Amino acid sequence: MPQKVILDVDPGRDDAVALMIAALHPDIDLLGVTVTHGNRPLAQTLENCLRVLDWINAPVPVYAGASQPLLAFIDPARRNPTAIYQLVERIEGVMLDLPAATSQPQAQHAVAWLIETLLASDGDIVLVPVGPMTNIALAIRQEPRIVEKIREVIFMGGAVFSGNITPEAEFNIWMDPEAARIVLNAGIRKVTMVPLDATFAGYVTRADCEALIALGTPAGIAAGQLTLHRIEGAEMGVPDAAPIHDALAMCAVLDPAVLQDVRPCVLDVNADGGASDGRTIADLRPGVWGERQPTAYVALGADRQRFVAMLGEALARRV
Ligand code: RIB
Ligand code: CA
Repeated sequence: MPQKVILDVDPGRDDAVALMIAALHPDIDLLGVTVTHGNRPLAQTLENCLRVLDWINAPVPVYAGASQPLLAFIDPARRNPTAIYQLVERIEGVMLDLPAATSQPQAQHAVAWLIETLLASDGDIVLVPVGPMTNIALAIRQEPRIVEKIREVIFMGGAVFSGNITPEAEFNIWMDPEAARIVLNAGIRKVTMVPLDATFAGYVTRADCEALIALGTPAGIAAGQLTLHRIEGAEMGVPDAAPIHDALAMCAVLDPAVLQDVRPCVLDVNADGGASDGRTIADLRPGVWGERQPTAYVALGADRQRFVAMLGEALARRV
């Protein structure tokens, strides 16, 4: 039975790979895609999302969501969007190098659709946020009853050892720390965090990208080319390799064994606006959790070979 999934994205080159895996793999029933601000302003993340699904001819409904974080943009000294987009552009690009979209988003707002879909469900939907968690947080605040309807949240975000947008914080969480706090403290029955520690361990190489392009499918060609651009962005500081952060989170839905060194923890986020703003706090110390049973799991590693094999298997498919 395919797993029902809602993917929340901010494309973003690695989001594009996660979208194609979700849309193409027979073990995933992609109910819809919600789009958030993040790597780019919402208008651009929305167009990029539509371009990806049009490129692989996948008729998946797309819903536009939040155009900015809950609070972080209020004080320009805390987050300066112009500076952020200039910084991220090197790795994530601006408009994805795909033909302009011909499809349109749904008229319904992403938050309204999330609430309607989750309330009507049998509690069997996995949410996969791979951008700032603003849409998910807004849905929880508007309709708390959805929390018990979420089977699991598997999110790309956070970092235990080192950040990327700051020494301590990872971009998705840093872009909306308050939203992440709401989601991680909502009492969702299971939360799996796929942080930079795991996504950097699951890096792909230039040769892996060339093998994806050699598949000759629209998804393989796009994923290989988009990731070669990420390699040029030199996010890892090592030559000829790059993480595909969001794709690893999506693959974890298909096969949890792609994540390694997964540990139970109590998760929270620093949102104090200071030097550690946006840092994820994973309390891995058993016995000090008190009454808060750990419903979160953090992956500190990844099975790189298994991940690369999963990419090849999923992206060789056509709609
Ligand atoms: O830090 C990596 C995350 O930030 C990925 O989701 C990437 O798409 C960007 O949103
Ligand atoms: Ca993303």
